[in-house]
Amino acid sequence: MKTSLKVGILTSSDRSSRGERSDLSGPVLVEMAREKGWDIVETLIVPDDVGILRDTLILWADSGDIDLILTTGGTGFSPRDITPEATRLVVDKLAPGLAEAMRAESLKITPHAMLSRAIAGIRGRTLIINLPGSPKAARENLQIIAPVLGHAIQLLREDAAAEAGHIPD
Ligand code: MTE
Repeated sequence: MKTSLKVGILTSSDRSSRGERSDLSGPVLVEMAREKGWDIVETLIVPDDVGILRDTLILWADSGDIDLILTTGGTGFSPRDITPEATRLVVDKLAPGLAEAMRAESLKITPHAMLSRAIAGIRGRTLIINLPGSPKAARENLQIIAPVLGHAIQLLREDAAAEAGHIPD
């Protein structure tokens, strides 16, 4: 039986966390996840604070109830952009192919793709992927990697269907 992918969406933004600007990228990712039939288990807005991000990623990944954590924001060059650093602190393994694919495909849309420092990695059985902060960029980047996420999670779950090459995305 195919169980649906369980997702947490974590927005990193000082201004949104203080209520000074509404979070646009989080809701865009929620909408995309719903369209794909994924279960949204958690959504949260946190400030660009490495300790808060780290602790939230650990809490969500170790809950055993989330297959995929999508972060949005904090991957650029401004001094407060620290999402990749927080992610690196918590992952056991990096999954560089996902970030490579996002940058390669995004470069066809904008040269600013070079300014994304996003990473992806695995903690236990949870895949964590950094997405950029603008709603447009978050949408474009998730669209690029979405086709492989079903198989990625099957592999993490050691689902027999993954070995059989049966990949329902
Ligand atoms: N990728 C796509 N596909 N489309 C975009 O518009 N914007 C870029 C980049 N990646 C963009 C993109 C920009 S302008 C920046 S600064 C970086 O992502 C990092 O974004 P962040 O600081 O909001 O996380």
